Amino acid sequence: MTDIVENASEPTGWQGQLSQEAQANAQAKEDEAQAQGIALTSDGRQLLGELLRPYRRSIIGVLLIVLAQVSATMAAPWLVGVAIDNSLPDAMRGDYTSLIVVGSVLVGCAVLSGWLRAVFVLRSGVIGQAVLYDLRRRGFDHIQTLSVAFHERFTSGRVISRMTSDVDTLTELLDSGLDGLLTALFNSMAIAVLLIVLDVPLALIALASLIPLWLLYRWFSPRAALAFTRTRETVATMIVNIVETFNGIRAVQAFRREKRNDAIFAGLNDKYREANRETFTLQAWFIPGTALIGNVATVGVLLVGGFRVSSGGLELGVLTSFLLYLRQFYDPMQDVGVFYNSLQSATAALQKIAAVLAERPGVPEAETPVPLPSPVRGGVVLDAVHFAYRADRPVLPEVSIDIPAGQTVALVGATGAGKTTIAKLISRFYDPTAGAVRLDGVDLRDVADNQLRDAVVMITQDGFLFSGSVADNIGFGRLGSTREQIVAAATAVGAHGFIDALPEGYDTDVRKRGGRLSAGQRQLVAFARAFLADPAVLILDEATSSLDVPTERAVQHALRTVLAERTALIIAHRLSTVEIADRVLVLADGRVIEDGAPDTLVASGSGHFAELHESWRDSLV
Ligand SMILES: Nc1ncnc2c1ncn2[C@@H]1O[C@H](COP(=O)(O)OP(=O)(O)O)[C@@H](O)[C@H]1O
Ligand SMILES: [Mg+2]
Repeated sequence: MTDIVENASEPTGWQGQLSQEAQANAQAKEDEAQAQGIALTSDGRQLLGELLRPYRRSIIGVLLIVLAQVSATMAAPWLVGVAIDNSLPDAMRGDYTSLIVVGSVLVGCAVLSGWLRAVFVLRSGVIGQAVLYDLRRRGFDHIQTLSVAFHERFTSGRVISRMTSDVDTLTELLDSGLDGLLTALFNSMAIAVLLIVLDVPLALIALASLIPLWLLYRWFSPRAALAFTRTRETVATMIVNIVETFNGIRAVQAFRREKRNDAIFAGLNDKYREANRETFTLQAWFIPGTALIGNVATVGVLLVGGFRVSSGGLELGVLTSFLLYLRQFYDPMQDVGVFYNSLQSATAALQKIAAVLAERPGVPEAETPVPLPSPVRGGVVLDAVHFAYRADRPVLPEVSIDIPAGQTVALVGATGAGKTTIAKLISRFYDPTAGAVRLDGVDLRDVADNQLRDAVVMITQDGFLFSGSVADNIGFGRLGSTREQIVAAATAVGAHGFIDALPEGYDTDVRKRGGRLSAGQRQLVAFARAFLADPAVLILDEATSSLDVPTERAVQHALRTVLAERTALIIAHRLSTVEIADRVLVLADGRVIEDGAPDTLVASGSGHFAELHESWRDSLV
């Protein structure tokens, strides 16, 4: 249950603030590399395919509806032409039948087209929302299972921007862009055919306009692609910046970073505005450009057609139909500029989401797990473990530690020595670069995730609370635990007193006013949670440092009970915590430099631990 009990992020302290600029830069570089190709990569295409596959039938249905709707709309100019050439002459002779029939069919077509449009909007909306629902669920599921390594690298701000702003972009496309794009596509093709059928010479004039249109599009599309990718990226960087600033708001205010942050944010905000301005500028040329080409072509058709009508080579009705079709031909082309916006943003967004979904967990679960002995005894062995977060800087050059089942080991050493890293390796948040970590003789890489999470629990400094009641937060330790078990766990670690005194006791909502817990109280809740989880191996990473001395004493007392039956690794700076250990390991620069019972190490008088002990004693006087 390590993931639930201890799913706290690394504290976003002022270090996080200082590195913000660097992170923004790194992100921008990475994004620039991505911007090179706006065409959907195989990841993106595959994702799109997987998302749409379950709705194949509905999508085909929707396409047929569009086709029917386009046909119904398409009939109108034709019917107008027929009315002018055939029905009008009849009507002038006093026979209105044909005019009434054609008029009724026109109205019928308009009604049918409207109704089909309504069905289409509804249906495509339903499909779109279903796809987005799947995408959000997949994204959330997947990102949750990615290893701590991913989250330490990717930052929550970027995860948030993937799950919100990028998904929103797809929503926009599915809600508004797609139907326009589909209709435009069908329309243009159908009309091109109709124009040729109506009159070949006029059709040639109209189709000739496709050449400048195509050139305009050639100019527009790569520039727009780049601009739209840039808007996606700048908005992502902005979200990252916002999330990190407000996560670290205490540090921001304590270190008077507001001005500096304002400047950084203003820069990002400005980049976002600039990126958007670029897309506007491009559209400002593209949309009137297509309109102009369309209008010039229409005038050309009118002139040539008018000349031929007057010389008797063409019927007026045909020319009218032709001109009406021409309008329908160019109108959607202007909109393509706008659809292109949605489409490009959505492609860029899909790409980014696909990249996250393609991330594989850094610590994959074994295909054929080796079962741990039942019950798990809790013997932990680090066998010649080498570990590095980054290849060029090993944190643990070579560590071998053998902790027999049931032993309580204190791990001490200077900040940065690698203590937390060892804890993370035993919890398998990371795998060693070389060597192996074993639990009861089984390599952690071969242990099923569920078994491992049940067997090893780590409590860190920042006791993490989920929204919900205090009881819920303790209950996470063991699914399905009763209120009695929860109260018993809280009592065992000495948390019952303060919980009982809360406004609504165990039912107090930890996020609501009055339910906010102090760092020490959160820690006690984390202890109760771990006690309930009852793991074979318990790791406390500076877990008692935020407790006051009396509370720590109480926890200390409780710890003797809590730790009695299990293997424990305690990372601590206070002597009182270390004193309950059977054995002390002193770590320096990723190596174990002392190893022995606390008394023995102190008695030897010369080592690092003896020195530490000395200064602790001094500080007590
Ligand atoms: N996620 C990480 N990525 C890169 N380096 C890290 C990461 N976490 C810790 N380190 C580095 O590893 C070293 C050991 O860190 P850690 O195990 O947290 O030390 P300790 O807990 O003893 O203070 C430090 O130099 C630290 O900068
Ligand atoms: Mg640490």
